[in-house]
Amino acid sequence: MPERDTEARHPGAFIAIEGPEGAGKSTQARLLADLLRAEGYPVRLTREPGGTAIGEQTRRILLDHANGAMLAATEALLYGAARAQHVGEVLRPALAAGELIVCDRYADSTIAYQGGGRGLPLDALLAVQQLATGGLLPDLRLLLDLPVEVGLARRFGAPDEVNRLDAAGIAFHQRVRQAYLDLAAADPDGWVVLDASGVPGEVSGLVADAVHSRLGLARLAATGAGEGARSGMAGARS
Ligand SMILES: Nc1ncnc2c1ncn2[C@@H]1O[C@H](COP(=O)(O)OP(=O)(O)O)[C@@H](O)[C@H]1O
Ligand SMILES: [Mg+2]
Repeated sequence: MPERDTEARHPGAFIAIEGPEGAGKSTQARLLADLLRAEGYPVRLTREPGGTAIGEQTRRILLDHANGAMLAATEALLYGAARAQHVGEVLRPALAAGELIVCDRYADSTIAYQGGGRGLPLDALLAVQQLATGGLLPDLRLLLDLPVEVGLARRFGAPDEVNRLDAAGIAFHQRVRQAYLDLAAADPDGWVVLDASGVPGEVSGLVADAVHSRLGLARLAATGAGEGARSGMAGARS
């Protein structure tokens, strides 16, 4: 990943939730945002691709089944385009305002999917990320990890449906999972790998523990103690 930029000493914090299909990213992003809000933190829940009007239009192009002819490089650049808009329009202003960002996928998704999955060269992908993000990195990445068959079964609703994916389809998702594990192993301070195979309540407990301990957030009950929560957060980052 690109180096963190020098203007990154913001009062807020940036949590990215990563992982393969059906890992529970969107579910856990919502639960985490709810928890942190209940604790009194100002929270911005957002997602990639998307999070802005331009990004959501780009998301529709990327996810449209009619666009099966899309080349890997086109895909990588469209994700990058959506990300550039998201960083400038949402993420940097939210951090400057002292918000806690919970982001459902970020730049590591591109490294895992377009790099690990599709085989695009890492140096080119990193250059696109640098352009898109200006060097803005998450303070914490949570990798929701689980066997690809389990995630795909959640996604498709039934194991039988997963079995209909061809071997290339399964192999693609296994490369994505491995790329994520490699990213996390290379930067243990930046990542927490969580077992996402449990029921949602189990996974959300792991997520909450990781966020509180890694970001030094005070674990406050929903008592309206928002000021305490915010000063605790600022203290942890100073
Ligand atoms: N821990 C879990 N156990 C079982 N099913 C889950 C769990 N978390 C989410 N799901 C369900 O699996 C599907 C995919 O979850 P989602 O949060 O959309 O995953 P992702 O965003 O990582 O693809 C959804 O139908 C969701 O309700
Ligand atoms: Mg999702």
